[in-house]
Amino acid sequence: MYSCVQLPPPFVTIKPTLDLTVEAIKLGYRHFDTAAQYGSECALGEAIAQALQLGLISSRKDLFITSKLWCSDNHPHLVLPALQKSLQSLKLDYLDLYLIHWPLSAKKWDIPYSEECLVPFDLKGVWAAMEECHKLGLTKSIGVSNFSPKKLENLLSFATIPPSVNQVEMNIAWQQKNLREYCKAKGITVTAYSPLGAKGTKWDINRVLDHELTKQIAQAHGKTAAQVCLRWLFEQGVTFIPKSYNKDRLKQNIEIFDWSLTKDDHEKINQVKQDRMFKNGPAAFPLPDLFDGET
Ligand code: A2P
Repeated sequence: MYSCVQLPPPFVTIKPTLDLTVEAIKLGYRHFDTAAQYGSECALGEAIAQALQLGLISSRKDLFITSKLWCSDNHPHLVLPALQKSLQSLKLDYLDLYLIHWPLSAKKWDIPYSEECLVPFDLKGVWAAMEECHKLGLTKSIGVSNFSPKKLENLLSFATIPPSVNQVEMNIAWQQKNLREYCKAKGITVTAYSPLGAKGTKWDINRVLDHELTKQIAQAHGKTAAQVCLRWLFEQGVTFIPKSYNKDRLKQNIEIFDWSLTKDDHEKINQVKQDRMFKNGPAAFPLPDLFDGET
């Protein structure tokens, strides 16, 4: 089990991301999640180089690095060059995991997208290119992000290499029960993004860390609300990628492995009102069927 951190939010400057990542490695984090679109690949690459130089890790192999293909590169002929560019930014020879960021193809890089900017997504062609990247040894595994069961079913109907991971929004307020059941049956690992409800971002609607129930459970265990949310994900058997730009909170978020939630906690969390965060906010994609009816 790797401790994970997502690197973090789009358009950050290099220096804080670099320092934070070195700090995270010192604390014991080993899985770093980035994406071409986040603008954090260069900083992560620099941090990995520093961690090696400082002897915090003995080899690149000690880390698990995930990056993602952005929508404007979601075209068969652009996949390999996009991965090569990410590797160049990261100063790495290979990724551990490369994901299709969204099941969408766009004409241009910027968000928010309008419908006119989107073009039909050639999933079959793009996946063949992803498989080629794997065969070339440029990524140890390939997967997807934001895929519904319906989209996964389509992908599995022609994939030679099945996706190893589906990274999706998941937290106590959007528990993804259907999707998780489907992924389990198909041997696809679920990774939870926004595990803390993306507090402080434009999508945050304060339903996770500020939920009365998380606060109550946290108090009963002498833990923080964030630790309760992360422990819950751990006990669901998914991987998760909390973001933090604060050293104390980074430390706090990794201290979740030596205690557990009770059956009663789980029953109460099961009852939390469900609502997807990602349909809110100005940068949410303007497609009603993006998640195939799972609103
Ligand atoms: P900060 O960077 O100041 O720590 P998510 O991972 O769901 O996207 O949420 C990320 C947000 O949650 C960030 O704004 C981050 O702020 C905040 N956060 C991360 N860890 C904690 C924590 N332990 N307690 C409170 N807020 C946290």
